[in-house]
Amino acid sequence: MKEIGASLRAALLERAGEARKSAYCPYSGFAVGAALLCGDGTVYAGCNIECASLSPGNCAERTAFFRAVADGQRKFAAIAVTGGPQGQEPTSFCAPCGVCRQVMREFCAPDFLVIMTDGQEEKTMTLEELLPMAFGPDNLIGE
Ligand code: THU
Repeated sequence: MKEIGASLRAALLERAGEARKSAYCPYSGFAVGAALLCGDGTVYAGCNIECASLSPGNCAERTAFFRAVADGQRKFAAIAVTGGPQGQEPTSFCAPCGVCRQVMREFCAPDFLVIMTDGQEEKTMTLEELLPMAFGPDNLIGE
């Protein structure tokens, strides 16, 4: 597994916390922020964005990915995610939903890192741990 130093992990979590302040989540009241580290060192932030008709809403992680991909980025090293009730500091780990894991699978290697915090401790897992035996691009277009 590729390592990311403690200070970079902390900086990414900090950036995710900043992005979380922009969350638009009037329906769930659950605010999430994400900070995506690209292969070239650039960081893209994202927040969740909800919608009155519910299904068009987007998670923080995918907001960050779609911003980055739309900007031409294709290589990704890690994403930091933090979430919890809006207006409060997070007290539990916010693990990416299944849809976001699948989007990560589209663009990332199995050793892509997902960095989470419950406000006290940090937990880092690989994409392969979060989404084992995944269906992905190689199933359709080869390696
Ligand atoms: N949400 C995220 O943005 N990321 C996650 O990892 C989990 C859930 C959002 C979706 C929705 O706006 C709110 O949190 C409640 O599910």
